Amino acid sequence: MRTIAIGLLGAGNVGQGVLRILTENADAIEGRLGAQLDVAGVLVRDLDKPRSVPVPPDLLTDDPQRILGDPSVRVVVELLGGIEPARSLVLDAIARGKHVVTANKALLATCGREIFAAAAAQGVSVYFEGSVAGGVPILRTLREGLASDRILGICGIVNGTCNFVLDAMGRHGLDYAAAVAEAQDAGYAEADPSLDVEGIDAAQKLALLCLVSFGLRVDPRRIPTEGITRVRAFDLQTAERLGYVVKLLALAEATESGVRARVHPALVPRDSVFAGVHGPFNAVLVNSAALGRSLYYGLGAGMMPTGMAVVSDVVEVCRNVLAFADAGPPPEAFREVRDAEPLPIDEVEHENYLCVHVPNVPGVLGRVASCLGRHGVSIKRMNQDTPGPGEPIDMVILTERVAEARIAAALAEVDRFDDVLGPTDRIRIVDPDAVGGVP
Ligand code: NDP
Ligand code: HSE
Repeated sequence: MRTIAIGLLGAGNVGQGVLRILTENADAIEGRLGAQLDVAGVLVRDLDKPRSVPVPPDLLTDDPQRILGDPSVRVVVELLGGIEPARSLVLDAIARGKHVVTANKALLATCGREIFAAAAAQGVSVYFEGSVAGGVPILRTLREGLASDRILGICGIVNGTCNFVLDAMGRHGLDYAAAVAEAQDAGYAEADPSLDVEGIDAAQKLALLCLVSFGLRVDPRRIPTEGITRVRAFDLQTAERLGYVVKLLALAEATESGVRARVHPALVPRDSVFAGVHGPFNAVLVNSAALGRSLYYGLGAGMMPTGMAVVSDVVEVCRNVLAFADAGPPPEAFREVRDAEPLPIDEVEHENYLCVHVPNVPGVLGRVASCLGRHGVSIKRMNQDTPGPGEPIDMVILTERVAEARIAAALAEVDRFDDVLGPTDRIRIVDPDAVGGVP
């Protein structure tokens, strides 16, 4: 039986998942590939760190050159996270003619142009299925399964940590800090969890989805992005009473003038399939011209789901190695990729959930309502508790559909009122089925 050597950069959550899958599923992999995968070295920072998956000490190293300089290593699996040293090591591997598999969306969303160009020049592959939606094979689906279709829009729950946190707060009554700590303990969160809760990780994944869906290279830092740090248990419970569930959504639509991409929390209708996506699960709804809507669902984070996606990429690369075949479709899915600035979202229209913080004093509701009215924001529904005179109220208002620019201007004015106690909370209301329009 032929053996193909692989080198592993990183043995954290995902790296250990990869090692477990290579051991536990060795027969299945060998049966499909017709070869054995052999780990030639594992790069870590701390050689003495206890690991839940034991790594033979002779494989562990803190010297990347032991792996990159080993001519037998055909595939380098990068699972370090972050930009450096991941970028330099990936480029070094490519320069030595090694194929690369990574789950690092921060790296590819930021430095993809340089890495894909280097790989194309060297004739090696870069696979990155684990970088978006963990174990859900969404990139392969977009690149291959939908290769003949035109993608109109994408709506995804693509950050397992945020989905877990919102679920834990809304359904299980955990407070925010405890929910984030649980997501970290479970291995879902990034090494710096602010990347998750600020929506940055979701924006990086959305940039990769835009690349593979539309052939457009979007800088994730230019995608309008809001995370979940301002979503309170009160908002989750009130949304539930009103027939909605709060989710962090990543949205992209192809329009005549370019791509409209954004990441933000949203109220989704309770009867939407997205409302049933719980814990670390992810879901991506793709709206494409010929197929219409199709939905991809599964575990979006964690050692085994992501490890599975990574090892499946390794198997794919090794199939090509064994067949002496060129790499399959280009990693970006398109032969030519264009740079794109995401369109401004000022004209995008949503219904909105507002929570205005005011004291219970005469006339306050009227002042808020007339300010909204002056800016063309129509109130659909209003709800408030019945506190005593002067006590603070969480005044909940659902608006009719209104353009972003209008509601933003209205709330800027409301928040300047003397008797407004703090910035108004706003969560957009989104029907995931409507993203991308009618196919
Ligand atoms: P971890 O932080 O758990 O693991 C990182 C690993 O890289 C550790 O083994 C660490 O060594 C090693 N490492 C980091 N920096 C260096 C360095 N400078 N030199 C040598 N070794 C280094 O991260 P994850 O496994 O959670 O994530 C890895 C990648 O996968 C990230 O890009 C992440 O975004 C992505 N990803 C993660 C998912 C998840 O569910 N966790 C899901 C999908 C993608 P040591 O162990 O000694 O500290
Ligand atoms: N931190 C990421 C998440 C890992 O929670 O979704 C999966 O990419």
